[in-house]
Amino acid sequence: MFRKSAVLAIVGLLAICSATEAAVLTVKEEMKQFVEPLSNTLFAVGGEVDPANGPDAPKVTDKRWDEAADAADVLTRVSAALGDKDRAKPGPEWAAMAQQMHEISERALKAAMTRDGAGLAQAANDLSDNCSACHAKFKPQTGD
Ligand code: HEC
Repeated sequence: MFRKSAVLAIVGLLAICSATEAAVLTVKEEMKQFVEPLSNTLFAVGGEVDPANGPDAPKVTDKRWDEAADAADVLTRVSAALGDKDRAKPGPEWAAMAQQMHEISERALKAAMTRDGAGLAQAANDLSDNCSACHAKFKPQTGD
């Protein structure tokens, strides 16, 4: 159910975007509109379900797990789009890091669907490392 709504949401957004002048979001827009909020959900739920964070992990509600699954599902698509030719920066590293985000999102999706707290926590950690690695290499350092 959540997967279907996520797919519809993103298809809807893509349709809106392609109907306007800006057929393709810039990397910056994609980061702001998708990557940041989606990954924030994964970081938050990843912390809540992490068995290392104590006895409350098993109490996390289905709704919360589904929010994480939903976010991970959309992020698999967004990360695939990051690897597009028109987005890629020269050299092999951009594609590798976009691909890595894709694989981590798939892992997070699987973990959320199977209610695997350790798995989701690990995926969230790996995702955070992925953001930092790509930003260190490709994001203009403006101090923000
Ligand atoms: C494949 C490379 C790559 C990965 C992976 C990546 N980013 Fe980015 N991100 C960029 C680049 C490049 C910019 C700078 C875009 C610009 O300013 O034109 C950026 C900018 C941003 C911005 C700033 C947008 C703004 O308003 O200036 C945010 C927030 C952001 N990324 C969040 C994330 C998060 C969170 C993750 C990990 C879940 C992530 N990014 C992973 C490449 C990446």
